[in-house]
Amino acid sequence: MRGCFISVEGGEGVGKSTQMKALAAAITAAGKQLVVTREPGGTPGAETIRNLVLSAEGEGWTSHSEALLFAAARADHVRRLILPALEQEKWVLCDRFIDSSRAYQGFALGMGDAEIMALHAFGSGGLLPDRTLVLDLPPDEATRRALVRDAGQSDRIGGRDNSFHMAVCAAFRQISSQEPDRVRLVDASGSAEIVTARLLDQLQDLLDQ
Ligand code: TYD
Repeated sequence: MRGCFISVEGGEGVGKSTQMKALAAAITAAGKQLVVTREPGGTPGAETIRNLVLSAEGEGWTSHSEALLFAAARADHVRRLILPALEQEKWVLCDRFIDSSRAYQGFALGMGDAEIMALHAFGSGGLLPDRTLVLDLPPDEATRRALVRDAGQSDRIGGRDNSFHMAVCAAFRQISSQEPDRVRLVDASGSAEIVTARLLDQLQDLLDQ
């Protein structure tokens, strides 16, 4: 027996933080022991890398360095937190995981999906979530929500231009169509309650096990 590993993905402004809280509450209410975590981050080392990669100081990272930093943070997170929790039969709910690296660095930055997956194979043994929920909104609506949320204070990656965020959105749609069993695209429009219900629908088979 192993716990269940769930990741939640989406571009900027899709309401992911609100839905993370609602999902955590629902999974706990279903009687599962739950660890909630995030990427980049989740362990002290990975949080240090998070600060490095998201901070707006200096001239910034090259695309290759950025991809390696996310992979390095993930390697620490997987081996020190995620795998041990799963081995203790806990559920792990992670705010972003490998599909963010595929969408942001692999597709939108043009580093390539195979290259990102090769880094993941080396760093994290290629670990994939049991289920990935992608919050999907038309990019225009997501941009509008992110502007309100960040009030002009977005980080280095969140602050990239609209064509970058459109590429991220398209990448998540493509990944979900390639891996429909694992990756479920969920319509993030409408009230928070309706979106939570849609997300839980996509987890019900795992919650019932
Ligand atoms: P965060 O403040 O957690 O943003 P959000 O609320 O949108 O999740 O910052 C994470 C940022 O890092 C976000 O812009 C997505 C980006 N990111 C990548 O580019 N690659 C990755 O592998 C991960 C995990 C995140």
